[in-house]
Order: sequence, then structure tokens, then C-alpha cells
Amino acid sequence: MDRKLPMTSALLENYGPRDLALSHGAGSHVWCEGGRKYLDFAMGIAVNSLGHCHPRLVEALTRQAGALWHTSNLFRIPVSERLAEKLTTLCFADRAFFCNSGAEAVECGFKMMRRYHYANGNSERRRIIGLSDSFHGRTLATIAAAANSTHCEGFLDGDGGFDHAEFGNPGALRASIGGRTAGVILEPVQGEGGIRPADPDYLKQVRDLCDESGILLMFDEVQCGVGRGGAFYAHQQLGAEPDILASAKGLGGGFPVGACLAREAVARHMTAGSHGSTFGGNPLAMSVANEVVDEITSPGFLDQVSVNGSYFLTSLRDLQAANPAVIAGVSGLGLMIGVFLQVDAGRFLSLLREEGLLAVKGGNNSIRLLPPLNVSRDEIDQALKLISRAVSRLETS
Ligand SMILES: Cc1ncc(COP(=O)(O)O)c(C=O)c1O
Repeated sequence: MDRKLPMTSALLENYGPRDLALSHGAGSHVWCEGGRKYLDFAMGIAVNSLGHCHPRLVEALTRQAGALWHTSNLFRIPVSERLAEKLTTLCFADRAFFCNSGAEAVECGFKMMRRYHYANGNSERRRIIGLSDSFHGRTLATIAAAANSTHCEGFLDGDGGFDHAEFGNPGALRASIGGRTAGVILEPVQGEGGIRPADPDYLKQVRDLCDESGILLMFDEVQCGVGRGGAFYAHQQLGAEPDILASAKGLGGGFPVGACLAREAVARHMTAGSHGSTFGGNPLAMSVANEVVDEITSPGFLDQVSVNGSYFLTSLRDLQAANPAVIAGVSGLGLMIGVFLQVDAGRFLSLLREEGLLAVKGGNNSIRLLPPLNVSRDEIDQALKLISRAVSRLETS
């Protein structure tokens, strides 16, 4: 085996080539190492929910960094108790478990589903149903749940304990539920697959099907939660409640944190020793996340997300109507917007970058626009101008 290869970087090449290095940011903008300024509607893929270096978060993080970084869960962490209290007050859940990423939050939910049935004498109920075009992370269980063939290639031994059904199709879900099913996982607004909010009627039918079959429903709100859709959790706008919810990304405003929330009936089976995380619930992440939650739930904040989101969506639909040869469709909820393209999405993304706007690729030949939740109307107008310039360049090329 070769001991050393000549390389430009010692990093694993799993992310593919990248040519832009960002050096600093403020609010909705970032600057690259060469000094160019960009309007950032990628926001670390829906992570920097309050923009870059929000003063309230910088203050909380530096204050905590000067007091205590890490203690482990061998000890009480009062700031995590405060966050658990806030999150459970804001939604259906009674209990919270903290971890460090979205995939970990989802994994905890999978374990809770199986444990619930095991503790209720139904240990054969271990299989979990995932839906088409989903994304739940990159661990073995989360790739098995989403079953994206590119993500799974070469990694899985069998189906990993997951069955699958078509997103948006209640009949297909009904057909896939059997005597060994533990539960269903779905994103109320699909993200990576191309922004796609679930139809409220579909969600209600999924909830009813789970209740009829005695199985659990878990929502993955890693991307669409924490205000992105215009409610604290997106399902609260879509009319159905889960038993378990995975949260992450925007919860830390850029600091790594994840949370798995659950009803008491499910959570109570996660007894001492059943699960854990060395870094989960650490004081740094918890201090920042408490401030994020306080800011997002401050009076008028979420209303503004909805108003700005509707304005952005409507303006993009106008652009689509005027340029049907470039834009095939626009969808979204709040400030989570997908633009589906007739042209190559990668090329469109490059043009946007040349114009000074950063966005993210999504599935089904789309791009995702994920501005900070406190984006101003002016910044949305600037983004619209840059998007229409990119569209015009394509129309004239
Ligand atoms: C809906 C959803 N679930 C889970 C994940 C995984 O989160 P993480 O990358 O923090 O593990 C993501 C990440 O993009 C996501 O969008």
C-alpha cells in the first residue's frame, strides 16, 4: 500500500472540490479570503439562523467560554435543563435529549421507537418506515432510513431495518405498515430532496394511520424547525403532531447542537444507561441555543419570518412566470425556499455566486434559498435582483 501520496490537502475528499474559503461574516453577509463580499442565503445550510456572528450569540458564547466549557453528563448542567424546559414548553414534547448533530438526534429517535415497543412487550416491532426523497443524515441508520442510492452505495448490510414508501402518498404508507413496524420518520418540509412542504391533509392521514396501527410518528425537523418555516416547529403550521422530533441545525445558530424531543409515553423507556453522549448538552452549545430560542420566540419574530417568506416566495413566483424557460417551479414555507430549474442547477448556482449570492443545491435539479431568519426586506430585494440577473444571463446565453 502507498504510504504517502502527493496531495493538495490532507482532508478526505468526500465533499468534492471546493474553491471558496470564507473568512468572516456579519449578519446576512460573508467575505471570502480574497476579500469579496457575498450575500449569504446558504447560511451553513440553514444553520446560522440569526446570521453570522449575532452579537447576542457571540456574547453568550464568550461569557460561557470564560466560565465552563465542558463537564460531562455525570453532573447536572443547569443551562441544559433550562433549554429542555423551553423546548418542551414550545411544542408537544415532554422530554429532551441533547446531542451534537442532526443525525444523532434522528438516531436517538430511532432508538426511542424500538425501545418503546420493546418495553411494551412488542419487541418484534423494530422496522421503521422512511419516505422517498428524504434525508436524515449520514450515519448507517440515517442513510438506511432515507435509502438514497448514492448515499448508501457500498455502506449497508441489507436494509438496516428500514422499509420505504412514497412521500405524499398515504395509500403507499398504509401498504408498507406491517406487524413488525415500529414507526414512521418524515420531514414535514423536505429539504435536501428539494424543498417540499408536506400537504397538511397527508400529514393528518399519516398521524391517523400511525394511531390506528399502534406505531410511532417521528418528524425530522433538523432543517425545517426552529423558526425556519414561520412557526417554531414547522409541523405546528401543518396540523399534525409527532411522538418524537429531531431538531438541530438552526437550534445552535452555528454552534453544533442537536435535540431529540419526545412525549413522556415514549421518553420514559429511555432509562438510565439506555443512551448517552459525551458532548451532548455541553454548556457552550446550551448557552448559545438558549439565546437562539429566546430570540426566535421574541414578540413578532416568527410573524416576520412568515411575512418575509411569503414576500420572497411570491416575488420568485413572479420571476418564474416571466422566465418559464429557466425556472420550472418555486416552493417553500417561510424562509425555506426551493427554486426548481429548467437549466442545470449547478450552473445556476455558479452564476448566482458570480453575481454575489450564495445558495445551496437541492435534489430534483433545484437550489435552496435559506437566508437568516432575521434577514431584512432590503436584503431579500437585493437577492431577488441578483437572481433575476442570473436568470437574464441564462436567457441571453
Ligand atoms: C432533514 C435533515 N435531517 C438530518 C440531517 C443531518 O444533520 P447533520 O448533518 O447535522 O447530522 C440533515 C442535514 O442536512 C437534514 O437536513
